[in-house]
Amino acid sequence: MLAALEALLAAARLEIPQAGDREAAEALRVRYLGRKGELQALLRGMGSVPAPERPAAGAAVNAARDEIEALIREAIARGERAALERELRGAPLDVTLPGRRLAPRGRRHPVSQAQDDIVEIFARMGYEVAEGPEVELDYYNFEALNMPAGHPARDMQDTFYVEAKGREGIAPGNPPLLRTHTSPVQVRSMLARQPPLRICSPGRVYRRDDDPTHSPMFHQVELLCVDRGISFAHLQGTLEAFIQAFFGKGFQTRFRPSYFPFVEPGAEVDITCTLCGGKGCRTCKGTGFLEVLGAGMVHPKVLAAVGYDPEELSGFAFGAGIDRLAMLRSGVDDLRLFFENDLRFLETA
Ligand code: PHE
Repeated sequence: MLAALEALLAAARLEIPQAGDREAAEALRVRYLGRKGELQALLRGMGSVPAPERPAAGAAVNAARDEIEALIREAIARGERAALERELRGAPLDVTLPGRRLAPRGRRHPVSQAQDDIVEIFARMGYEVAEGPEVELDYYNFEALNMPAGHPARDMQDTFYVEAKGREGIAPGNPPLLRTHTSPVQVRSMLARQPPLRICSPGRVYRRDDDPTHSPMFHQVELLCVDRGISFAHLQGTLEAFIQAFFGKGFQTRFRPSYFPFVEPGAEVDITCTLCGGKGCRTCKGTGFLEVLGAGMVHPKVLAAVGYDPEELSGFAFGAGIDRLAMLRSGVDDLRLFFENDLRFLETA
C-alpha cells in the first residue's frame, strides 16, 4: 500500500507541473483526487493493511492528498497566468487610435419648436388643445363657416379635393377635401362642447400654392374663445400678449380691417418683418411687414350653425401660420427650406 502511494505521488509530481492550461489541470484533479480517482482506489485497499500500521498509512494518504492538491492549485494558477499573458500579447490595444464618432444629435424641427412654444403660451392662458382631421368635409371646412357654394375660397384653384369614389355615406354637396385652414376645428369643437370654450388647435393645412412664401402643405394654429361678453378688445389683448411671448418685447403688430366670411368684423394682423427689420425685402415684398394671421369676432351665423345663441354668446378667433411665425423667429427667408429636410439647414435653423 505505501509503495503504491509512493508510486502515485511520484507520477503526480512529474505529470501535474506539465499541465499546459487550466482545463488540463482540472482533468488531472479528477484523475488523482476525484471520487473514482486513483487516491480513492488506494484508500479502498486500506482494509488489507494490518491494524497497527493503519494510522501511519492513513497519515501518509492524507499527506499525499495535500501535496497533490497543492500541485494542482499551482498548475491552475500557472495556466491562468499563461492565458492572461497570451491574451495581452495576442490583441495589442492601440490607445492612439481615434475614437468612434457619435451619431449626430437630432433636434426638433424648427416648425415643431414653434408649434410647441405656441401651444405652451396659450396653455398658460387657459386654452386646451383640440384636434381635427386633415381630410375634412366640405361642411366643416366651408359651409358651416358661412362660405356658401360659389365662394371664391372654395375654388378648385385653392383646394385639394379627395376622390370619394366607392365610399359610402358621402352626401352630395359635401365632398371630402384636404382642409385649407384649421377653422373647421372651431365648428367641430363648438358642436362637441358647451360654452365657455377656449381652444387652441395646431395642425397641417393644404392649399394649391407653391412659391418662396407658400408651400402646398403648411401649418396653422387656430385659437377660439367663446363666452358671454367677449369683445374685440379681448382679441387684441390676447394677440398682443402672444406676440410678445413668442418674439419678445418690442414687436410691432398692425391690424388691418379684412374680410373672412366666418368673422365680423375681421382683421389681418401683420408683424414687423424680422428679416429686414421693416426696411423691405423679398420676403415682405418690400412692405416691411409680414402678414401672420387672420382674426375676428366669430360670425353670428357660425354660432347659430353650431346651435349657440348669438344673442347670448360672442367669441373671437384667429388662425395663424406657424411656419411664417417660425420663419420670422429664425430669420429664414424661404419657407420651402422647412420642408426639404436638408440637414445642413435643419442643424442650424
Ligand atoms: N382661417 C383663416 C385663413 O386660413 C384665418 C382666420 C381664422 C381668420 C380665424 C379669421 C378667424 O386664412
